[in-house]
Amino acid sequence: MMLVIEKIQQIKELSARWKKERKTIGLVPTMGCLHDGHLSLIRKSREECDVTVVSIFVNPTQFGPKEDYTAYPRIFEQDCEDCENDKVDVIFAPSVEEIYPDGFQTSVSVKLLQNHLCGLSRPGHFDGVATIVLKLFNIVSPHKAYFGEKDYQQLQIIKRMVNDMNLDTAIVDMPIVREPDGVAMSSRNKYLNPEDRGSAKILRKIIKEAEHLIINGEIEPETVLSALHKIAKKEKNIVVDYISLCDPDTLEDLDSLEKDVLVAVAVKIGNTRLIDNMVIRR
Ligand code: PAJ
Repeated sequence: MMLVIEKIQQIKELSARWKKERKTIGLVPTMGCLHDGHLSLIRKSREECDVTVVSIFVNPTQFGPKEDYTAYPRIFEQDCEDCENDKVDVIFAPSVEEIYPDGFQTSVSVKLLQNHLCGLSRPGHFDGVATIVLKLFNIVSPHKAYFGEKDYQQLQIIKRMVNDMNLDTAIVDMPIVREPDGVAMSSRNKYLNPEDRGSAKILRKIIKEAEHLIINGEIEPETVLSALHKIAKKEKNIVVDYISLCDPDTLEDLDSLEKDVLVAVAVKIGNTRLIDNMVIRR
């Protein structure tokens, strides 16, 4: 039987009991509106751990004042059904007051990794992410936690925090799960009308072109970037936030593409912000 737990104290006690029984605990942090990307993380945790906790919490502190916190899709009943079908042991679904009671004022900041990519157009976002993830780790005390490469910068920031703060949770990263037409699965795809959904294919198209050029020996970032922006310009429906060719570890821009390259793209289609990425190993 799957449990739905809303209280921190209750899941802490359960986690302590599991530890006494020498069970390994897997945590999959999510904001709900689960799709096959999330389910791939859940299935991996089920494979590797004795018990799996999925947290569902739309974390207000990682949304900017003009972002979609209130509009973010919430389909809790459906999420519960999906988790039950995938044999999740516990859904942890706390209220905002439970996580951020009056007087809350502490925040974790991974200082340098956030000064790139999405961090530039979403100030404060990754402090919100790091803080909630650290809280979830302290609440659930998992042996392993599962994250998707879809949010590449988030994954790097969490790995850095785990290292820097000597946390005992092992981070497991999982590949991007895509729709049949190549668009990365995202809860925000729900916002797209059919025309916009068509335009969403541009992210993958840009990344594939970068891969093509780099694999064929192009080492000048400017040459590749200008080809990619040219492709983006042809798609009238979108506004590019960034197209980046950077170091997969530091996220710093590369001045030559002879090493491993992270190709990362963010665009806005109407009010919807979509991201995608690929690491090209050399
Ligand atoms: P959310 O966007 O719900 O994503 C939860 C997890 O699912 C993240 O690790 C994300 O990278 C992964 N994921 C999303 N789409 C994916 C896809 N197409 N393929 C593979 N994995 C995918 O990311 C968050 O929530 C929040 O920032 C959170 C970490 C829960 C903190 O609030």
